Amino acid sequence: TAAVDAAIAAFADGQPVLIHDFADREGETDIVYPATAVDSDAVARLRNDAGGLICVALSDAVSDAFGLPFLQELVDHPAAADHELAYDERSSFSLTVNHRETFTGITDDDRALTISELGTAAAAVTSDAGYDERDFAAAFRSPGHVHLLRAAPELLADRVGHTELGIALAAAADQPPAVVVCEMLDDETGGARSPGDAEAYADRHGLVYVEGEALLSALAD
Ligand code: 5RP
Ligand code: CA
Ligand code: ZN
Ligand code: ZN
Repeated sequence: TAAVDAAIAAFADGQPVLIHDFADREGETDIVYPATAVDSDAVARLRNDAGGLICVALSDAVSDAFGLPFLQELVDHPAAADHELAYDERSSFSLTVNHRETFTGITDDDRALTISELGTAAAAVTSDAGYDERDFAAAFRSPGHVHLLRAAPELLADRVGHTELGIALAAAADQPPAVVVCEMLDDETGGARSPGDAEAYADRHGLVYVEGEALLSALAD
């Protein structure tokens, strides 16, 4: 569709794309950027205009190279034993991290450094030099202020969250498999911003809004 083509072109250019998942899933619209394109203005947009949780989704292959577990499997606490979600079989949460050159980790500059360096590290995984768990630990510390999400191995064939939609879009746009996602919340109600409102925001700011359904039809194989 035209929206999918526009989303791929925007993402290839390092622009953010708004992705609504599905009315019968979370029913949320996330602002999504290629991680390598994130600067402090982008982080400010995410916390001011989106307002949800700022997370970086990584492909399964990159997560393996970084040695990243699912948080649910790592935490030995009864709260993590029964991880029921109303809208999906499992969450994609992994560790939280800060780049080691950050101070507190939360400022726009600090989170922009952590996020963009995650993008650089993801790109390095498939480079000739390679990138492993030791390299990851040399560059990042955990816990930190950026949540990592681990995408399902078969992407959209396995799971249709923003984690997988974002990584599938990155692949289509030839971006490294690391994308930042943040839910758009409604300042009036505190709930998820409606698809109509999210689309109006996209129009006002010259951004692309795309439905998960359209990405799924175009990108699932
Ligand atoms: C983390 C979330 C978001 O919804 C994010 O979009 C990733 O989750 P999912 O892949 O389940 O959509 O809950 O803030
Ligand atoms: Ca706000
Ligand atoms: Zn989501
Ligand atoms: Zn969510």
